[in-house]
This record gives sequence, C-alpha cells and structure tokens, in this order.
Amino acid sequence: MLNIAIEAALEAGKFLKANVGKIKHIERKTGQETNLVTEIDRQSEALIIKKIKEHFPGHAILGEESGADSNASDYKWIIDPLDGTTNYTHGLPIFCVTIGVEYRGEIIVGAIYDPNADELYTAEKGKGAFLNGKKISVSTTETLINALVVTGFPYNVKDNPDNVIEHFVNFLPVTQGVRRLGSAAIDLAYIASGRFDGYWEMTLQPWDKAAGILLVKEAGGVVTNFCNTDTDIIYNPNTLATNGIIHEQMLKVIRMVKKI
Ligand code: IPD
Ligand code: CA
Ligand code: CA
Repeated sequence: MLNIAIEAALEAGKFLKANVGKIKHIERKTGQETNLVTEIDRQSEALIIKKIKEHFPGHAILGEESGADSNASDYKWIIDPLDGTTNYTHGLPIFCVTIGVEYRGEIIVGAIYDPNADELYTAEKGKGAFLNGKKISVSTTETLINALVVTGFPYNVKDNPDNVIEHFVNFLPVTQGVRRLGSAAIDLAYIASGRFDGYWEMTLQPWDKAAGILLVKEAGGVVTNFCNTDTDIIYNPNTLATNGIIHEQMLKVIRMVKKI
C-alpha cells in the first residue's frame, strides 16, 4: 500500500506543480467565503482515486473533494489532493499532497509530497518515518522558549475568532517563534523532521492530518487532542503535535484559554 500511496502522491504533486498559475475556476465552498476549491484540487483527487482503485478496488476512500465512497472496508484511504489551496491560488509555493490509510481506526500508511521542495515524507506503522528515503526524527528541544511552533487558522474564524487569536497571543511570548504556513500536512511533516517542535490547530479535518499523524508518531513525536488523549484523533478537530518533550508545556498554554 505504501508504494501506491507514494506513486499517487508523486503523480498528483507533479500535476499540481505543473499547473501553478493555470487555474481556470476558483469556487467558494458553501457558506465559507475564504474556503476555496479549484478544478486543480478536483483533478488531483481524481488522479489519486484512479490509482487507488486500480490497485485496491475494494478499499474505502474518503477524499476532501469527493467525500466518502460507498465501499465498506477495514481499509480507508484518506486524501487531501491539495493541502494549501489558498497558497496555491496565490502562487505561493507551500502546498502538498497528503494520503493516509486508516485500518480499523489507526493510520498504518502515510505519504506527503511537497513538489516545490521535492520532499517525499513516508511512514508505515512500526517502521519509522522517512524523508526522501532517509530516516527522520522529531527535534530534541526541551523547553518551549527554545521551540519554534506553528499553527493554522480555520476558515470559519469569523464565527469563533476568540479562541484562535487567544492561543496565538498566548504562544507568542513563551516560544522562540510562531509560524503559519497554510498547509497542515506540511506543518506535521516538519514536526516529524524536527524543523518545528510543536503544532496546534483547532479545526482540522481527517484529510489534513491522516498521513501527518503517522509521520509524527513514527518519528518519535506525540499527537493528541487538547485534552491530551489520542482517542479518535483522526476525526477530532483539535490537534496538538509535538516532539513529545514539550507536549505538556504546550498543553499548559492551550489550557489558558477557558473554552477549548
Ligand atoms: C487547510 C490548510 C491550512 C489549515 C486549514 C486547512 P486546504 O487545508 O491545511 O493550513 O490551517 O485548517 O483546511 O483547505 O488548503 O486543503
Ligand atoms: Ca487541507
Ligand atoms: Ca485541500
């Protein structure tokens, strides 16, 4: 399965890169002015699904753009064909393809491909995490004040701006820096490779993080919700991913916001 996830991620990633600046239609997703989708997102998803169906016709698929298919299977492919759509529409080269395979509630295969950096992140449960074939590990940063952390903002920030902004403001003075790249999967891949020490986001979807969860865990890190449990972590929107060492320190800052 990992080979097919890799083949699909590479093919779709190259397609995305080749089509930068060639978007014909930008639509707004229902009710959300800033949540964009383009024909490139849909075509990328179609490429990935075609490849999966060729090799695993009985497996279930959950794609951001096409939703869940009707297959009942213990294996579910969870796909974001273009993570970082807003960046993509502006020609900002921070976007990727991310594909995870869930088996009975756990991610067992993950592939994230960043075509701009030509970086392929891969993981299989129990076998470690890799960047372009080389083993990677989370950072060894011990204190929050030495940590570079990253976050993302939800598209519906207008409905509930307070929590999002409060967390951001609370992290700024107690870390070495806070970044916002605009691609949750790249954020998680960078936790796995030790570039970032911690990442939090409040409204992630399963396709944003399926592969990233496995990468972080296989690289020695920890992924939980804001209550510090990993039960149903794929489907829980609140996400905290760290090198493990600073996990409790980040939770403490998150708990400073009353309604989480
Ligand atoms: C978004 C990006 C962004 C994150 C949002 C996601 P999309 O995915 O990952 O970084 O902050 O929560 O929805 O819409 O570009 O696939
Ligand atoms: Ca996404
Ligand atoms: Ca997407």
